[in-house]
Amino acid sequence: MRMMAFADCLGGKPRYVGVDLFGSLTEELFVREVRAKKKRPRTRAETMDLLRETLGEDIALRMTLLEGFSRDVLAELINAKMQFDLIFIDGGHSYDVVRDDWEKSQQLLAPGGVIVFDDYPNYGVGRLVHEIDPNLWDARVLEKTDRFQNIFRDLDPAPELDFQLVQVLRRAG
Ligand SMILES: C[S@@+](CC[C@H](N)C(=O)[O-])C[C@H]1O[C@@H](n2cnc3c(N)ncnc32)[C@H](O)[C@@H]1O
Repeated sequence: MRMMAFADCLGGKPRYVGVDLFGSLTEELFVREVRAKKKRPRTRAETMDLLRETLGEDIALRMTLLEGFSRDVLAELINAKMQFDLIFIDGGHSYDVVRDDWEKSQQLLAPGGVIVFDDYPNYGVGRLVHEIDPNLWDARVLEKTDRFQNIFRDLDPAPELDFQLVQVLRRAG
């Protein structure tokens, strides 16, 4: 929402497509992939209402929310030959989901576009980012800005973790 509002301030009129399980997120998947209570998603309809109330109709009309597993929805976007200038990966946190999001995002990235990962180096994100081929991709870990309580202490005993963004650009040639 902040990025769309900021783009509007700058005079841009970007379109946004968001993919989430929304109301289809089961309790089992919430515990495995998300856990953070504040991140429990609203339903798709509630989220759309919130976007309209917060950003106004003009911006909300440029936002599309798609409900489903990212592996299925991203495959549909690939089949529809959609391309995106900015792809932000912040869905399921398990390695398998992050890897699938990364593989499909590469096919959805427009020339000159950027893929950003949230939550590095934690959960499945750290392992995946370390596997990115440096000959093909320029992955840059951005500076530390967030430190939160660790809600996956069964996987890592640290009480708190730093969370960083990673910016990934396709190398020329
Ligand atoms: C940590 S939250 C982040 C949501 C949003 N990026 C934000 O910052 O508010 C993770 C979201 O990923 C969704 N999610 C988890 N696994 C998913 C999957 N396999 N496909 C699509 N969405 C998924 C959850 O429903 C949840 O809303």
